[in-house]
Amino acid sequence: MTQREPQITADGSFTFYSEEFQEHFHSHAGAKREATQKFLIPCRIAAQAQTKSNMRLLDICYGLGHNSAAALTEIWRVNPDCRIELFALEKEQAIATDSFQQNLLSPWSPKVVDILGKLSQDLVFESTHLTAHLLIGDARQTIQQAIAQNFKADAIFLDPFSPPKCPQLWTIEFINLVAQCLAENGYLATYSCAAAVRQAMAKANLKFGATPSVGRKSPGTLARFIPTDLQPLSLQEIEHLQTRAAIPYRDESLKGDRQTILNRRIAEQAETNLESTSQWKKRW
Ligand SMILES: C[S@@+](CC[C@H](N)C(=O)[O-])C[C@H]1O[C@@H](n2cnc3c(N)ncnc32)[C@H](O)[C@@H]1O
Repeated sequence: MTQREPQITADGSFTFYSEEFQEHFHSHAGAKREATQKFLIPCRIAAQAQTKSNMRLLDICYGLGHNSAAALTEIWRVNPDCRIELFALEKEQAIATDSFQQNLLSPWSPKVVDILGKLSQDLVFESTHLTAHLLIGDARQTIQQAIAQNFKADAIFLDPFSPPKCPQLWTIEFINLVAQCLAENGYLATYSCAAAVRQAMAKANLKFGATPSVGRKSPGTLARFIPTDLQPLSLQEIEHLQTRAAIPYRDESLKGDRQTILNRRIAEQAETNLESTSQWKKRW
């Protein structure tokens, strides 16, 4: 099979385009910037590494591997002795191997790139400072392996394609599984601020706040079980959660396809008497 064509982004780092999902893997602002500003900084990776001798990471939608590469680089920069346990979930192994073979992880530490190259081939990597598993398949199923091991992450990076393109990974049921993998004082970061996603987080007993926007108009979301380090929601954001946009995606079987999940939400939106999101927008 021919390799994917790398696409350069504004910060000089590379991403891919998905024909299947009709979306780029990163915003035009940059894969490197996104990994750092959307995931590492909100999850306080450097501060956590300073005080912990052991860190657990869950990278949902590993893709090219930028988020894992950024986190491993940063943790060992701050604390070279830190022991890391990583679960990375990805549907297609070839994306990770293509990324390594085309040297697209070059913004990150060469030692980390080397490790992730091996991980993308062997799907497991074990050393004194790292135990890593790259679980290939539908994240709705593979996440069960982390849950079965009672894995509680200090940081979770939730990076699927956008909700309209990949609603499977933004449903109440999936976010509930993700929350089961979050430590009591851990951080869950995502680039999305969609009201439907935040509502699914609320149903999983998570509290959340906005993170600064990077290369898009809208901010991202940081979620936790405790309110510390969360930016309080603005009145505009609170009201957004009371509109039709906040009707969540549902997938009870955790096997639904995209169209079924989208149609179900459209039907639920048609029946609700919640305010329309366009009326909310007009008020703001
Ligand atoms: C926005 S990209 C992630 C970018 C990635 N974090 C990176 O740094 O390159 C979304 C990824 O989700 C993967 N994906 C799509 N559906 C999935 C599913 N059901 N389970 C697991 N991975 C999925 C795609 O193959 C793609 O690699």
